[in-house]
Amino acid sequence: MASGVWWRDAVIYQVYIRSFADGDGDGLGDVAGIRSRLGYLADLGVDALWINPWYPSPMADAGYDVSDYRAVEPRFGTLEDAEALVREAHDVGLRVLLDVVPNHSSDQHPWFVEAVEAGPGSPLRDRYVFRPGGGPDGAEPPNQWRSVFGGPAWERVVEPDGTPGEWYLHLFAPEQPDLNWEHPDVAADFEKTLRFWFDRGVDGFRIDVAHSLVKEEGLPDVADVADLDWPRPPVEVDGRLQRAPWRPHPFWDRDEVHDVYRAWRQVADSYADPKVFVAEAWVDEPERLARYLRPDELHTAFNFTYLQATWDAGYLRRVITETLDEQGAVGAPATWVLSNHDVVRHLSRLARDRQAPGSSLEQLRGTTPDLDLGRRRSRAAVLLTLSLPGGAYVYQGEELGLPEVEDLPDDVLQDPTWERSGHTDRGRDGCRVPLPWSGDRPPYGFGPEGGAAPWLPQPDDWGPLTAEAQRDDPGSMLALYRAALHERRALPALGDGGMAWLDLPDGALGFTRDPGFACLVNVSGDPLPLPAGYAVRLASGPLDDGRLPRDRAVWLTRE
Ligand code: GLC
Repeated sequence: MASGVWWRDAVIYQVYIRSFADGDGDGLGDVAGIRSRLGYLADLGVDALWINPWYPSPMADAGYDVSDYRAVEPRFGTLEDAEALVREAHDVGLRVLLDVVPNHSSDQHPWFVEAVEAGPGSPLRDRYVFRPGGGPDGAEPPNQWRSVFGGPAWERVVEPDGTPGEWYLHLFAPEQPDLNWEHPDVAADFEKTLRFWFDRGVDGFRIDVAHSLVKEEGLPDVADVADLDWPRPPVEVDGRLQRAPWRPHPFWDRDEVHDVYRAWRQVADSYADPKVFVAEAWVDEPERLARYLRPDELHTAFNFTYLQATWDAGYLRRVITETLDEQGAVGAPATWVLSNHDVVRHLSRLARDRQAPGSSLEQLRGTTPDLDLGRRRSRAAVLLTLSLPGGAYVYQGEELGLPEVEDLPDDVLQDPTWERSGHTDRGRDGCRVPLPWSGDRPPYGFGPEGGAAPWLPQPDDWGPLTAEAQRDDPGSMLALYRAALHERRALPALGDGGMAWLDLPDGALGFTRDPGFACLVNVSGDPLPLPAGYAVRLASGPLDDGRLPRDRAVWLTRE
């Protein structure tokens, strides 16, 4: 790696704890499962783990409804188990990032329970966003805002005297009341949470919905209800990628939210080995995202503009260039991410021939996947991703080439989106199916012999996709990821630093990085000759008579 600061070019592996590995046999992944697979992760060649929320939670939104920020959900393990995991990860050279959820708590959080019990007018309600309803008898929601999961963003409470009463804001599920970031208790409590985990050796946090938190005074309606949709792929306006066009929004990406992160940065920097933040901020325009990465704010942010890009050379080049320009302007490294637990797995997105930008099943409705095509493109995409300047994320299972499970039976779906959309949007469960580790039938070694079935059913045809089946196969997706990650460490040109575009025919992308490295991707063009003076170091698939066929990528080094 080129820089001395680990987070500027770390490859961070996302552990979706519920679906990674089940250590105790209850069908749900857990801390013991992660501990048992640290050797696998170290061998893969990643630098750090980001673990999705493991705190006590009623699981209305898979752990993003937190009822106690400074403890571990008993179904996942104990605080001692968590501390042991952090130690053991450090021992094998892996840093550990957790997931902090500041926009909302669970409705079972003691603060919310006491707020409801205290009744209207109590200061205990001020830690959340309670308002009287609209209409003559208060039976209408206070404004037109909608929940990201569908339906109104407001829920009415029954007051302690049994009458229908005030409404509270929930930008996500009703079980996830929004916290009021104007209230000093909220900021103070989150700083306590950060320190609690930092003191236990945790190296940083991914910040859930980092672009929310602060709402506009008076909670005004928006002029165009389409602005309430989220996430929306960016569009091009005047040659720049943006959200048509950016205007102040009453609850997303408000300028005041940056004060929160300036305070958090001071907490992080107060440690001898400084701690790190990564923003989950779906703000689309690279310029708006860069604001989170100013020197006194957060360290990095997920690049969702890249994640949502279509398999189109021109579009990819624009996203990459704008990202590097905007983030470079504030001195922050870029990150490159293809998948996470909220979007359709990229193998299945890239398997669509006619692509629209977007990342949800809803947005892909009516298109049929060609998984062989998706696999070829995924192999090329990871070589692109891991050779761009900056850091990268790997979502568990992408190294196994897992597709989205698009045909989960209705009755197993757990994502709140399914219910809240009136059974029209199937939600995100298809990318959260438990990992296949070994064997030729479910549960593929996900849990111990004789344990409960995994919390979501796995497909019957995943035998060839297990980690065990791929381990010794040089042509496997796992072998490609391992080779790329190990090369990335070995080649001084990769990681942090600069790059220069190569002038190539339409449909192809290529760039060089010093010293002596080039990456070529044939996205959709004719077979591409390789530049003279370079040797192939790693290829996503066979070349065609020395030329690079479409949907394929190569890493080259100077001879
Ligand atoms: C983030 C999480 C997602 C969760 C939502 C609400 O987008 O990644 O899984 O549902 O926030 O917390």
